[in-house]
Amino acid sequence: MTWVIAVTNQKGGVGKTTSVINLSAAFAKRHGLRVLLLDMDPQGHLGLSLGVRPTGTAETIAAALMGLRDLREVTHETQVDGLRVVPSNEDLAAVEEQLSRQPGREAVLRSVLSRGVHDYDVVLIDTPPSLGVLTFNAIYAADYLLVPIQPRLYSIEGLRRLYKILELMRSRLGRRIEILGHFLTMVDNRYKITHEVREDLRTRLGEGLLRSEIPSSVRVEEGHFYRSPVVMYAPETPVASAYLELASEILQRLMSSMSSQGITSTLKSGEGGQITF
Ligand SMILES: Nc1ncnc2c1ncn2[C@@H]1O[C@H](COP(=O)(O)OP(=O)(O)OP(=O)(O)O)[C@@H](O)[C@H]1O
Ligand SMILES: [Mg+2]
Repeated sequence: MTWVIAVTNQKGGVGKTTSVINLSAAFAKRHGLRVLLLDMDPQGHLGLSLGVRPTGTAETIAAALMGLRDLREVTHETQVDGLRVVPSNEDLAAVEEQLSRQPGREAVLRSVLSRGVHDYDVVLIDTPPSLGVLTFNAIYAADYLLVPIQPRLYSIEGLRRLYKILELMRSRLGRRIEILGHFLTMVDNRYKITHEVREDLRTRLGEGLLRSEIPSSVRVEEGHFYRSPVVMYAPETPVASAYLELASEILQRLMSSMSSQGITSTLKSGEGGQITF
């Protein structure tokens, strides 16, 4: 059983990549899970922040999406035990153009993953700050979504478009993807807007807003600089503890989502022979 989770928010700079890196390190180090990271962003920050610098397209996710390499061939070890990464670089932008013209374009990553992720407990996919074909592929390949939100002005304006896409995927393509949760990043409680956005999200999302919040901390940037997740670079800091807490909360949700799906499936198959999902 492999959980595939895309971390997405079309707004730029909200902490998607940082969260993918630190959650994955927490899953691997703290919980002993086997984790694969995929970078679907041509900016390529995910690999770089883990010290993985691909030398050419052949070593990146682009080669797997074009059918030139198996996923295993573009998977790199990291310095964190149990954590591997499929990096990207700017060549992924050219693949994006090619994919856009292809029929069945949103399902390419899902098909790549179906052949190569059975050895992992969790696959986390980082997405670019846009709702283009690369993000579509990430969402379509995922079972679950995590949505980081930086509590600033207009921070939730774009989310409606994301929900619309999920609805379209369900109605047109028959693919149901669950939002595992939204969470606040770069939280600074000195700002009034932080409290306002938090309250607004609590009202709108209820349980959809995770309890754990990631504080703003200069340690995050330092961790990127030293190519190390902050949960390893500065494990005693509040921001590291917050990521560890968030990882545990997410795992709890995954467990309970699985058990409720199990019950739903049994009920549905008992009633009409149909299993949803
Ligand atoms: N908790 C935090 N405290 C302080 N700075 C942070 C925190 N999280 C992320 N940052 C910084 O904010 C910037 C944006 O973070 P990150 O790259 O993770 O966002 P992103 O959503 O992946 O961006 P993009 O949309 O460009 O892919 C980075 O410089 C990162 O170091
Ligand atoms: Mg990013």
